Amino acid sequence: MERIQKLISHAGAASRREAERMILAGRVSINGQVVTELGVQANETDEIAIDGVVIGKQPAKLYFLLNKPKGYLCTVKDDRGRKTVIDLLPEVKEYIYPIGRLDYDTEGLLLLTNDGALMNGLLHPRYEVNKTYLAKVKGQVMPESLEQLRTGVRLEDGLTAPAEVRLMEYNDKAGWSKVKLIIHEGRNRQVRRMFAAIGHEVVSLKRTGFAGLKLAGVSRGRYRELTGDEVAMLNHIAGKPGKENG
Ligand code: URA
Repeated sequence: MERIQKLISHAGAASRREAERMILAGRVSINGQVVTELGVQANETDEIAIDGVVIGKQPAKLYFLLNKPKGYLCTVKDDRGRKTVIDLLPEVKEYIYPIGRLDYDTEGLLLLTNDGALMNGLLHPRYEVNKTYLAKVKGQVMPESLEQLRTGVRLEDGLTAPAEVRLMEYNDKAGWSKVKLIIHEGRNRQVRRMFAAIGHEVVSLKRTGFAGLKLAGVSRGRYRELTGDEVAMLNHIAGKPGKENG
């Protein structure tokens, strides 16, 4: 017997934390009986359903690379009815989750999957997964400020790890700079806060790369499925052998 949140996450239907929220929200049933307590256990032969849809034991693994536009939330559902990144994907019966978050106003590369193990691996700080951002910021970013971003800036949740930073463009007339950053941390609103710490407001922010994948070729609001080789590469990065995806 296992706790049902564990069975749900093993089936790839949701992360364990998300499964707990679903249970508390009364969305989960065992053999047709709704459960709302986190301690309830079941075994592999019990029929577990989320919103009335029985979860499969080996659901097909799905992997999408989305070019998220601004104005979409990185959640599965919004209680205020706002648009979410899931609205941009094809309708599938599996539960698909974004791997990490982009702010409502950030655009660019977002991976989504129902592969909970891969998601957890890619989000784990231990694997230092690279994320590339292109930030357009107000003012001229001087070399000393770029150096500060590179070595680390102090945010309220601590010093940032070393980053790769490059000034791509400075528009003198319009008074903005474009800076490319490669970071591996994934703190909340990290890039915006890093620029705020050196006195530059971010005007727009786009993620152009994640874990070796690039946005190129996928236009805004569109998605593509990952290839088997890409999934294997991600599994390798996330420290898990890619045997099922080879
Ligand atoms: N950093 C931010 O500030 N926002 C994002 O959406 C991603 C990284």
